[in-house]
Amino acid sequence: MIELIKTHIADVELYSTDNAERVEEFRLKYLSRKGILNDLFDHFKQLPKEQKKEAGMLLNELKTKAEEKFKSGDAQFSKKQSAVLTEDFTLPGNPYHVGSRHPISVFQYRILDVFRKLGFTIAEGPEIEDDWHNFSGLNFPENHPARDMQDTFFIDKNYSLRTHCTSVQVRLMENQKPPIRAVMPGRVYRNEAISARSHCFFHQIDGVYIDKNVSFADLKQTLYYFVKELFGEDYGIRFRPSYFPFTEPSAEMDISCILCHGEGCNVCKHTGWLEILGCGMIDPNVMTANGIDPEEYSGFAFGMGVERTTMMLYGIKDIRILSQNDVRFLRQFTTE
Ligand code: DAH
Repeated sequence: MIELIKTHIADVELYSTDNAERVEEFRLKYLSRKGILNDLFDHFKQLPKEQKKEAGMLLNELKTKAEEKFKSGDAQFSKKQSAVLTEDFTLPGNPYHVGSRHPISVFQYRILDVFRKLGFTIAEGPEIEDDWHNFSGLNFPENHPARDMQDTFFIDKNYSLRTHCTSVQVRLMENQKPPIRAVMPGRVYRNEAISARSHCFFHQIDGVYIDKNVSFADLKQTLYYFVKELFGEDYGIRFRPSYFPFTEPSAEMDISCILCHGEGCNVCKHTGWLEILGCGMIDPNVMTANGIDPEEYSGFAFGMGVERTTMMLYGIKDIRILSQNDVRFLRQFTTE
């Protein structure tokens, strides 16, 4: 055993640790858990007493020498390593690409935020809707052209893909007692030919407010505030009489063109105005049909498409690109 330790001491002294691999080799050979030193220390325990003193001293010598050898080799190696390092670890890391919000979502959130500030809650409903919620509960006469196969994707006699988010208004009225104040965002479907200007599905945001003494003045003021918050101070609004089965009176609202500020351009067809939503006072028939007494309560409603305004804001010429998931398009809306 003593002779063996002496051989190892000699070996350690001569061991060349002049590169990283050799240093590691040395460490594994002598200092690792299954290395020579541990092995020798195990044997040492079984030595007869009279040999222990000398062997112990030699073993300690071997251990110190091996550790010194490794330390100096390791230090030399890591010094070499840092000398050849070309990385600058103080530089900021590569940014992690997080993708981007879809422009429809961006604009939709902006709209919903304005109404949230006015105390509106957000309500959602199913995209597959029955006749009652999409049509009958909203005072559509039995033979109304909007029920026609050309506009509606029917699933069967009673079910269709909803053609507007006004269906959620019916669900709110049947489930809640006034005051009801909600905006209803969602996707809607119409059986239309797909072109640069129209698609068979798009997004709408409807709104409803039902309480005691709600008036047309409240509707106008709410929408006026909405336009100012969304686009800024210098936009005018105007109301034109219109017709919807579920509102009476009904109106369509225009805002001064967001591109030319009312001067007249191609987008507003030189009128200076853009039509952005339909609205009106909820028809008493709709209230009665959904269990709300029109003698006690009144309410207003409005509904707008999201695509057309988004396209105008961002100068998007073709509606189809909004649903093609082309990353070259989507990447342009990265905000972070
Ligand atoms: N649902 C109508 C449409 O799809 C838009 C609309 C008009 C909604 C008037 C309303 C409203 O809530 O009061 O064209």
